[in-house]
Amino acid sequence: MKKSIALLGGDGVGPEVVQAAVTVLDAVAEKYNHEFEFQKGVIGGVAIDAYGDPFPKDTEKLCLDADAILFGAIGDPKFDNDPSATVRPEQGLLRMRKKLGLYANVRPIQTFSATLDTSPLKRVVVEGSDFVVIRELIGGIYFGEKGRNKSGTQAFDMSTYSVKEIEQVGRFAFKLAEKRQRHLTLVDKANVLETSRLWRERIQKMSDEFPDVTVEYMFVDNAAMQLIKNPTLFDVILTENMFGDILTDEASVITGSIGMLPSASIGEQTSLYEPIHGSYPKAAGHNSANPIGTILSAAMMLEYSFGMTEEAQAIRSAVTQVLDAGYGTKDLVVDEPLGTQEMGEKIAQNLS
Ligand code: IPM
Ligand code: MG
Repeated sequence: MKKSIALLGGDGVGPEVVQAAVTVLDAVAEKYNHEFEFQKGVIGGVAIDAYGDPFPKDTEKLCLDADAILFGAIGDPKFDNDPSATVRPEQGLLRMRKKLGLYANVRPIQTFSATLDTSPLKRVVVEGSDFVVIRELIGGIYFGEKGRNKSGTQAFDMSTYSVKEIEQVGRFAFKLAEKRQRHLTLVDKANVLETSRLWRERIQKMSDEFPDVTVEYMFVDNAAMQLIKNPTLFDVILTENMFGDILTDEASVITGSIGMLPSASIGEQTSLYEPIHGSYPKAAGHNSANPIGTILSAAMMLEYSFGMTEEAQAIRSAVTQVLDAGYGTKDLVVDEPLGTQEMGEKIAQNLS
């Protein structure tokens, strides 16, 4: 198969982890006789520095023309520490999500036996955890009306959801649950929020269409507790944008290193794949960041966007083999850590 992939390295360690994933994708192409064509674009802080715009028109076009997008990370402390900055790297990410209609953010949480002890949680608690969070990505408080009063002494951020938005991401979650353990948990705050009541009402209605899926409802405060107390309870979690943002960072500690976790953002046409970690500016340029989250994101891309299930599985097996053999990057506290690129090469070698 011939596919074109847009590469958006972004800020911090982003370009390094994306490059390591390209090394693995090149090995997949060779082994399975595919042709992957890579095109680079800029986004985030680097795009502000170069063009004064965190999501330039050229990058938008590149994304719309590609078969899939592999993304690194966004964010630069020089903007974080300046609340008055009107142009910010994160705006690039949010505009891209909206423009590409990336309505479902898929964040699988899985443990690897080789790295279980790097989790701050007890082995007995986290062992066997295997669930997926589906986070709604282009609605809610992130995209609602926001502003200040005239004197600037009051601020507001509106959270709005439509039935259409809930059903689109809801359908995706139900279908995924059907392919997994058929257990869907809707996480909301329906005891307080009207948007949450609409979510509950619609998901309840939709459950008639998916009789094989057991649906459970959980308030977000309780879910935050259950996630680290009883993570094996969950199969598929469905939640709104803001709750999903917070809960997935929390869930990442189950695996030990946030550097291991991939994600997919599903769009109506093009989808985007990225590690869930941030730009980690302190490590930028040191070839020390863990590329596994990005490499596993590339595996999700092969499966979800290109239907290459066997190839995706081959990447996952290669990652497990490399970890089982005792290799790791700095974050995994191994004696002789591999660099970012060396980890990519090690996984690529195990493929072939
Ligand atoms: C994420 C990030 C983003 C978000 C930031 C960088 C805007 O935290 O992808 O989870 O809040 O969605
Ligand atoms: Mg986040």
